[in-house]
Amino acid sequence: MSSLLLRNIAQLSTVDAQGTVFHDAAVLIQDGFIVWIGQDAEAPEATEIHDLGGRAVLPGWVDSHTHLIFGGDRAEEFVARMAGESYTAGGIAQTTSATAALSDAELLAAVNARRTEALSMGTTWMETKSGYGLSHAEEVRHVRLIRPVIDQLTFLGAHLVPKGMDAEQYTDLVAGPMLADVIGQVDFVDVFCERGAFDQAQSRRVLAAATRAGLATKVHGNQLGPGPGVQLAVEFSSHSVDHVNYLEPEDLQALASSWSGWERHTRSGLRGVVATCLPACDLSTRQPFAPARALVDAGVEIALASNCNPGTSYTCNMNFVVATAVLQMGLTLPEAIAAATYGGALALGVESQVGSIEIGKRADLQVLDAPSAAHLAYRPGMALTYAVYRAGEHHRGIADRGLEK
Ligand code: NIG
Repeated sequence: MSSLLLRNIAQLSTVDAQGTVFHDAAVLIQDGFIVWIGQDAEAPEATEIHDLGGRAVLPGWVDSHTHLIFGGDRAEEFVARMAGESYTAGGIAQTTSATAALSDAELLAAVNARRTEALSMGTTWMETKSGYGLSHAEEVRHVRLIRPVIDQLTFLGAHLVPKGMDAEQYTDLVAGPMLADVIGQVDFVDVFCERGAFDQAQSRRVLAAATRAGLATKVHGNQLGPGPGVQLAVEFSSHSVDHVNYLEPEDLQALASSWSGWERHTRSGLRGVVATCLPACDLSTRQPFAPARALVDAGVEIALASNCNPGTSYTCNMNFVVATAVLQMGLTLPEAIAAATYGGALALGVESQVGSIEIGKRADLQVLDAPSAAHLAYRPGMALTYAVYRAGEHHRGIADRGLEK
């Protein structure tokens, strides 16, 4: 049986329930799983040893909200926004046309390239959404193509009402024949519940159809203004409500109540609705940051994700997301790291498999070219990912220039 020992770890942030941090640590991996964690001096024998040279190790990022299935970019829209235009979801239609123009091979290559880029920056588990198809045939094509190359897939047929179609008819199409054709291939159904996208009644129809089909749900909610998204997510016991920029006191209360049966310190009990904060998107759309501090203080479990997409957040750099959450949103470094690892796993319902460094979990770890995880926010914008282990398999990070210190 082959085993891999990662040793000479200056700081190991496990992100377990107690937030245990080891110094001078080692981790033993067997068949892609973590089987031992402890002091370097007490490390067991292994068939292969990687000396990490006094670097910091933490769980791989779990990016729980991305839209990787797209063609083209919208740099002009971004430039106009930075010159004062406000974001409306209308640009989605432009991406829909650019995506439809790609062949299967081109679309698959584009998604694979984005997935590889994210891996080189520490992301070991990634969700992505459909939603730039916006026709029956295109949505089904995207789901079929991308299913094999992504960890989890979300059906977001209800992203925007396509031009020339009535909103009610399109909602019926999404909740009926389109959903029927993706069941068995997707993990979640999502709806963009926002002015200009899907209203409360239409969003409810999509979520109800998903629930009837036995699928878990997510909601894009309260991104561009106050709205019913959060309340719908709570009503449907969705795994997460994402964006959450504009929360009324009753929204915060509803999210907090959803976690009232949960023990944060033991991570046990009844789970509620994860609030997924997307700070890179907030910067790129000049929206106020989601109130991450208030959410955590109210007892809500939060996730941090990249929201990588060509309209509102063209980055899959989770180091940047974590640094922004610490520097601008009032989270501590351990809180931000936990939200980008365990929180993401909770938002995806895979917290028993990934999201922390614990015995029995998949060996998804990242190595920073730094002695402590603090460097993520202390040196924002620097390429710090030295190595990534996904299911125990080594990948070079963008900071590995093949040089030893
Ligand atoms: O999560 N909010 C809706 N969907 C994406 C943006 C899509 C786009 O503008 O292309 C988001 O921000």
